[in-house]
Amino acid sequence: MAQTIQGIRGMNDILPQEGARWQHFDAVVRDWLAAYGYNQIRTPIVEATQLFVRGVGEHTDIVEKEMYAFEDSLNGEQLVLRPEGTAGCVRACIEHGMLYNQTQRLWYTGPMFRHERPQKGRYRQFHQVGVEAFGFNGPDVDAEMIVMLADLWRRLGLTGLKLELNTLGDSVERAAHRQALIAYLEKHVDILDEDGKRRLYTNPLRVLDTKNPALQDMAENAPKLAEFLGEESRAHFTGLCRLLDDAGLSYSLNHRLVRGLDYYNRSVFEWTTDQLGAQATVAAGGRYDGLVEQLGGKPCPAVGFAMGIERLILLLETQGVDAPRAVPDVYLVHAGEAAARSAFRVARELREAGLKVVLHAGGGSFKSQFKKADASGAHFAVVIGDEEAAAATANLKRLTGESGGDQQVVPQNELVARLSAAA
Ligand code: HAM
Repeated sequence: MAQTIQGIRGMNDILPQEGARWQHFDAVVRDWLAAYGYNQIRTPIVEATQLFVRGVGEHTDIVEKEMYAFEDSLNGEQLVLRPEGTAGCVRACIEHGMLYNQTQRLWYTGPMFRHERPQKGRYRQFHQVGVEAFGFNGPDVDAEMIVMLADLWRRLGLTGLKLELNTLGDSVERAAHRQALIAYLEKHVDILDEDGKRRLYTNPLRVLDTKNPALQDMAENAPKLAEFLGEESRAHFTGLCRLLDDAGLSYSLNHRLVRGLDYYNRSVFEWTTDQLGAQATVAAGGRYDGLVEQLGGKPCPAVGFAMGIERLILLLETQGVDAPRAVPDVYLVHAGEAAARSAFRVARELREAGLKVVLHAGGGSFKSQFKKADASGAHFAVVIGDEEAAAATANLKRLTGESGGDQQVVPQNELVARLSAAA
């Protein structure tokens, strides 16, 4: 026998038994996005490498070590499998002139790719739902995004999620803070680890984001961006907090929340859970007012977030939230050659009338077919033997509910009416 070929590490098959949960999640998310007036955008999975180098940031983990980057062997283009959705969304908006004198509320979903060390809740191919709004200065839209996530947790039946918030100020404020931070880190260079030393001048804010316990005190006492914020940035953040307070949302301010992508300014936020171990963040985002211009567009304020679908599915499982199972209305049982042809036609007619029908295939006794009908969860079995085929009738048997087991002979051309009345 030939050797089997395995899937790629960190890239998962989503099997049919998990499908119901994914489909339920998708359905809830679509309704939820429609309730807030967001329109879907679909962009390619492959983008130019430069998009993320310029968009996400040259010195971020994503760009430095996690991108699936390759050269197109046919034309030498430098390409990547997208590690996130925001940069591609902005690229598409600029390219199609969607940001001139107009606002956009957009969402997308699909696979993203990061070459990370796989573990529970962290994969190399994972799926996001992302939401982006362009042309709004906020803070009302920032608040709406955060509140809409709280609403999604309610719609999904998830509990116990926590919200953390920070503000990163504007570019001038950040530059002043950065200088002060570099001066501070230079004084502590002896205790910095490899990562810290490497990032001291390239990305000093990220040095504070360390998980290294030995550096916690140093990070805690570092100069805080809040001390460098001007009037406008402060008013923006106060406005955001006021709207969240009005909505009755609780949150904690975390001045060490800096995010792993460089495009953010002002509001940043993360929704976390303590039920998934180390991979605690289920949704995260913030404002990125400079990115459109940085990628070649006219300046345009923007804010958005993305959530990790795998993590939310894991959390739904952990919290025992059941997804409704999609079951057929009818399982069509048949035996004999004339019956098979009759059943084939009846199945099409029932489906045209809007019913969900599984037509038995693969032969077998009535008994084994009934076992499959039961296992499918179908509400009814429609049974056709050669006798019924000749008389253009069928045996209609209820499989579920209080009158489960009841059966009667019905003319085939009355099946739709009977089934619709019973539904
Ligand atoms: P991010 O924080 O890199 O932000 O990712 C958003 C979410 O995607 C995370 O909170 C997490 O739930 C999920 N996620 C990230 N990496 C993995 C992984 N390796 N395995 C499983 N899930 C993962 C962004 O991607 C930004 N584009 C969000 C954004 C949109 N900001 C503004 N607009």
